[in-house]
Amino acid sequence: MTIDIIPTSAKLGAEIRGVDPATDIDPNTQKRLRAALADHSVLLIRGQSLAVDDQIRFAQCFGDLGAIADTLLGLGKRDYQPDEIPECVSVISNIKIDGKNIGGLGDGECFWHTDSGFAETPPSASVLHSVELPANGGNTAFLDMIDALDTLPADLRSRIEGHSIRHSQVYDSAGTKRPAYDEVSDITQAPGPEHPIIRTIPESGQQCLYLGRRLGAYIVGLPVEESEALLDALWEHTVQDHRIWSHKWGLGDTVIWDNRVTMHHRDPFDPADRRRLHKVQVAGERPR
Ligand SMILES: [Fe+2]
Repeated sequence: MTIDIIPTSAKLGAEIRGVDPATDIDPNTQKRLRAALADHSVLLIRGQSLAVDDQIRFAQCFGDLGAIADTLLGLGKRDYQPDEIPECVSVISNIKIDGKNIGGLGDGECFWHTDSGFAETPPSASVLHSVELPANGGNTAFLDMIDALDTLPADLRSRIEGHSIRHSQVYDSAGTKRPAYDEVSDITQAPGPEHPIIRTIPESGQQCLYLGRRLGAYIVGLPVEESEALLDALWEHTVQDHRIWSHKWGLGDTVIWDNRVTMHHRDPFDPADRRRLHKVQVAGERPR
């Protein structure tokens, strides 16, 4: 199979041409896709029809099949998930049928985050496929966390060396409290695992900033005010346009991202419009 890898003009992201994710991908092409993901952190395949079962198989080009957030949190399959959708697939949608949501995250902004940092072993990659799209909005942007660390001022870096963030499980990426969790007034008590702020990717030795999400984050061992100030400084440094690539979805697009070295963000869209995407995760390792 001949494939073309066309980098974006941004610090991360590349379009892949010549691959149909709905077909069996030969081992050599799988290897090239994994190498492209390691090189560019985010891959885009445009405009292919991809059934759920094919998406699950395609995701395994990048590693073992992983679990979605609700499963990682032990919450099981949400009652709103359509019956025909397996538990390993996350439906991201604002669509309601008979007054009931068919998916999560609604129509609002999803704040910068990495998927399931609140799990002990967050997914190494995510594979997101568009099924139904609004006329405008709902773009997904990606941020290069390798560059964020590489350019971190030395004084900031010295303050986070050896430190961990506790990644709260209380809120989803739209900032909505998960019904299974209580509101936490003392952030030092928020439930969730602790992961190093500087993360090392095992297969490459590459290091990156690993912030998870801002809401509910706490730098373990610091007084709350100090943790908040340091997190604010890290986030102010990190979220800058020159390390962001934003994708305007086309129907049938599939985007694959390395969930360890990137964060992503979704723009809001018109609540009167319909949007549906399916996401499958690739299993990851405990961050170190
Ligand atoms: Fe996400």
